[in-house]
Amino acid sequence: MTLLTALPIRALRKPALALATVTLLLAVTPAPADDSAAPKPTPVPMVAPRDATIPGGPEGELIQYGRRLLTDTKRLLPDKVGSSMNCTSCHLGEGKVAYGSPFVGISHRFPQYNPRAGRDVTLQERVNGCMQRSMNGTPLASDSHEMKAIIAYMEWLSKDVPSHGQVEGMGIGDVNKKLTPDPVNGQRVYVAQCASCHGANGEGMKDAAGETIFPPLWGEHAFNIGAGMARLFKAATFVKQNMPIGIRLDGRLGQGQVLSDQEALDVAAYFTQQPRPDFAGKDRDWPKGGKPKDARY
Ligand code: HEC
Ligand code: HEC
Repeated sequence: MTLLTALPIRALRKPALALATVTLLLAVTPAPADDSAAPKPTPVPMVAPRDATIPGGPEGELIQYGRRLLTDTKRLLPDKVGSSMNCTSCHLGEGKVAYGSPFVGISHRFPQYNPRAGRDVTLQERVNGCMQRSMNGTPLASDSHEMKAIIAYMEWLSKDVPSHGQVEGMGIGDVNKKLTPDPVNGQRVYVAQCASCHGANGEGMKDAAGETIFPPLWGEHAFNIGAGMARLFKAATFVKQNMPIGIRLDGRLGQGQVLSDQEALDVAAYFTQQPRPDFAGKDRDWPKGGKPKDARY
């Protein structure tokens, strides 16, 4: 177990090393599907700014605090976060990893129409969407120091991206949705490829000080049923691109592309259906219809 855990922790501490190979990987990673009919501007390569460009003074302090809030969310906001997770449990490598739902370019893409809300949402509202669902927590006030810091970090990450905000590797990529998932095989994949880190019962793993090393996939400390990750296709896509993490030394942080589309769907069908917290606001989702078929409610 020691060997197994040593690997990803080292990888997590060195996002820069992993990032060096992102450009290389982009060349072989299939582009995500584009559902919208309107023509979109050509995405620019995803390059996160260097830390040395964070300014000094209060502005830089706000950016640094925002980054810490994303990577250490549970510890810094224990009263707001219900799950044992950080934002970067899913938005990998400080929000800088292609197809790991990165934040580079994001501040240019909001406000944005959100089918789940049935209206345009601001970036602050989108952050709170993940606070309430993925983190099973409570929203941050828009004018709070914490929200301002998170937005400042996202704006800094996006500063070199043109105003259309389209970046190669944004989102989580895609998976073949025509395949039929098999949760029984999914359980086999889970035991073989995931349980060593995420636990035999999806509970994840903590260190001696009680800090999360590997985040939970189900149970009371996981994301709730309102989260994007509770949906089959989102979960399968994320897993295909990014899990099992740290399996190779020559890859980027979320060195996925190990599982086939079928295996990713199977394991997602298994873990998304496990027990997890309810989401109180679920009745208000998709008020204008268009609920995706993989929604949990
Ligand atoms: C359990 C996993 C998970 C956690 C934890 C999580 N998110 Fe997300 N988040 C997602 C998924 C999945 C999406 C949708 C990605 C997609 O469809 O491309 C998303 C989308 C977003 C988006 C919009 C991304 C885009 O490209 O439009 C923002 C902003 C965001 N999350 C912020 C946060 C913040 C801030 C936190 C912590 C407070 C957080 N998320 C925690 C899974 C998570
Ligand atoms: C070597 C350890 C390891 C293995 C094996 C592994 N993961 Fe992960 N997983 C992680 C880590 C670490 C994170 C959080 C990333 C971070 O904090 O940077 C994570 C995050 C996740 C997340 C998003 C956060 C959450 O808790 O919901 C999902 C979903 C996930 N893994 C699914 C899987 C699946 C499915 C497998 C098997 C195919 C798998 N993982 C194998 C280490 C691992």
